[in-house]
Amino acid sequence: MGNERKIRVGMVGYQFMGKAHSHAYRDLPFFFDTGVVPVMAAVSGRNEKAVQAAANQYGFESYETDWRRLIERDDIDVIDIVTPNNVHAEIALAAMEAGKHVICEKPLALTMDQAREMKAAADKAGVVNAVCHNYRFAPAVQYAKQLIESGRLGRIYHIRAQYLQDWIMDPSFPLVWRLRKEVTGSGALGDIGAHIIDLARFLVGEIDELVSEMTTFIKERPLGEMSGGLNASTEGGKMGEVDVDDAVSFLARFQNGAMGVFEASRFAAGNRNGNRFEINGEHGSIRWDLENMNNLHVYFTDDKAGQQGFRTINCTEAEHPYAAAYWPAGHIIGYEHTFIGLFAETFRAIANGTQVKPDFEDGLRDQAVLAAIEASSEAGRWVKVEQA
Ligand SMILES: NC(=O)c1ccc[n+]([C@@H]2O[C@H](COP(=O)([O-])OP(=O)(O)OC[C@H]3O[C@@H](n4cnc5c(N)ncnc54)[C@H](O)[C@@H]3O)[C@@H](O)[C@H]2O)c1
Repeated sequence: MGNERKIRVGMVGYQFMGKAHSHAYRDLPFFFDTGVVPVMAAVSGRNEKAVQAAANQYGFESYETDWRRLIERDDIDVIDIVTPNNVHAEIALAAMEAGKHVICEKPLALTMDQAREMKAAADKAGVVNAVCHNYRFAPAVQYAKQLIESGRLGRIYHIRAQYLQDWIMDPSFPLVWRLRKEVTGSGALGDIGAHIIDLARFLVGEIDELVSEMTTFIKERPLGEMSGGLNASTEGGKMGEVDVDDAVSFLARFQNGAMGVFEASRFAAGNRNGNRFEINGEHGSIRWDLENMNNLHVYFTDDKAGQQGFRTINCTEAEHPYAAAYWPAGHIIGYEHTFIGLFAETFRAIANGTQVKPDFEDGLRDQAVLAAIEASSEAGRWVKVEQA
């Protein structure tokens, strides 16, 4: 490892995703030889005391109090954006203009215009541009993709996917940035719906058209801030309007003829992080859920009569993508490994001068589905998804 090229990372933001990404940088070289080694060069944040504490805790060499300084610095190769959605575009565009590789959290942008501009700038700059749809990198999800691509399920007829949480159900939970349209773009839709849209695109294909319904159950909340993870603090009781969706559901028709039924909600009591899908094909079905993320449930129609039924594959065998890089079979992995897998591909792309997937094209295509869902809900009818 000692002689490998060092790739120096500057990260903007340092809270929930800041912690997840920092952890992945530290662990990446333990598990993957990508040809380069990430170095946690600097983290930036507007509150000096807090960003200094984050730099110490996560292990960054230095910190800045303005993200523009990260971009000016010659000793930084990659800008990692873990801020709320309203500043993704500005930071990514400046970083790519300066020739830096970019890792950007999802959803890529606030609007289609921003997402298009980001994709065009990425094409022009020719830098590696990753968008953090990390759930693709669960070995069980990668194995699902292999089964589908190898034809094991035959023609795909259905996907039904849900991303259900319950952390904002209490009406006194504050009006954090995730509930303010100007900062977040949309509510449950862009926050968690964006992930199941990406998984559906990854596993089944592009969505041609859709019809949706979006709802806001609690329309006013006390003002407040995120305080780490999915926790929040209030600011003394003043109320503000919630102007994003609390829940969304939609039906989709895929270009390949498959049908999709989707639901994203932060009002599904008891569902802490219920990101799950079932896919039904000509020769069988598969099921996955994040809270049991090592397992893929499979059913094959050619199993012997009398022995048919769903069975569980623990995707920790050497045959399962990424699994061999971690631990021996049965020694399960967790949420944080999805980021390590994503970063393995990102740094491999940097080492080899190639492109990572999912990239800004995927971010733009995901954004086009988000935009179509909003348009459909507003118009009350089926709408076509813009194809990037
Ligand atoms: N991939 C995933 O599974 C996943 C999970 C959670 C969040 N996210 C995405 O990650 C991003 C960050 O979410 P989070 O949960 O870490 O949020 P958070 O509120 O925990 O942290 C946001 C960070 O950005 C900083 N910040 C806020 N506004 C800023 C600005 N204008 N300029 C510079 N820095 C600013 C804050 O100080 C904080 O450090 C969002 O885009 C979110 O959608 C992705």
